Amino acid sequence: MNKPKNLKEALASILSKEELSILITSFDVVGSIAVIEIPKPLMKKAKLIANALLSVNKHIKTVAMIKGAHKGTYRIQPLKVIAGKKSFETLYKESNCSFKVKLNKVFFSPRLSFERLRIAKLIKKDEVIGAFFAGIGPYPIIFAKHSPMKKAIAIELNPIAFKLLKENIELNKMQDKIIAVKGDVAKIVPKNYEHYFDRIVMPLPEGSKHFLETAFQGIKDYGIIHFYAFVQRENPFNETIDLIKAKAKEFNKKVKILFKRQVRSFSASKIQIVIDFQVLP
Ligand SMILES: C[S@@+](CC[C@H](N)C(=O)[O-])C[C@H]1O[C@@H](n2cnc3c(N)ncnc32)[C@H](O)[C@@H]1O
Repeated sequence: MNKPKNLKEALASILSKEELSILITSFDVVGSIAVIEIPKPLMKKAKLIANALLSVNKHIKTVAMIKGAHKGTYRIQPLKVIAGKKSFETLYKESNCSFKVKLNKVFFSPRLSFERLRIAKLIKKDEVIGAFFAGIGPYPIIFAKHSPMKKAIAIELNPIAFKLLKENIELNKMQDKIIAVKGDVAKIVPKNYEHYFDRIVMPLPEGSKHFLETAFQGIKDYGIIHFYAFVQRENPFNETIDLIKAKAKEFNKKVKILFKRQVRSFSASKIQIVIDFQVLP
């Protein structure tokens, strides 16, 4: 018999037609870890599905099942290893950079790779970047690699993500370009980086509106903010743009909306968006 080419083929003789029709065949791969979603009716077959995945993809050493949505301040996704090596540690590569990741202790998503490069290409020579909510460092490290920026201040609250952020800065030899700061952006920015940044990236879509004030405190006149948010699918941009304009007014500033797009689908009713805007005096 020919070797199965993909997950569906590998499961063709194991699952029924109905089961195959609800199988979710797309999944994220972070280094050697596949992160899969198992529909409820297939839960009893989860291990069979995971082993089939290991058999068709030799690069995958661990299969982890999603057990719920990202949660808490650190935005960690509950996962459970169901096949292969029992480890959440891996090395992930993106845009010629390497990242050490501990998937059960930090947020990480390969789905934001397009966004990271998109913004890197907008950065001009000698810009100083505020990399808020830096996680394990993908935004500032990819900016350092692919833009002529001067430096980035990468701020992260989760102590484990912060440790990995520092390790990843070294791994990519970016110590001269990125300063890692541990703590809450809402405390660190007004204290140490008032009107300091040419550009701020805010990749914390959940509750991001609570940090708009911090962004206005940190940005220079004519600086640019990349603002992420979860919004309703219907009419997704207007409410967030009104919020940005209202906050600008509080700071006696104006804003120019430069760009907006849907980043990804989040649930049946919600999507993640990004709005790029410039702060004007
Ligand atoms: C959605 S994750 C994004 C991480 C990273 N930028 C990435 O793309 O992989 C948001 C990150 O913000 C951190 N965080 C949450 N609240 C914070 C705060 N007030 N100050 C600094 N970091 C915070 C979380 O621990 C988490 O690592």
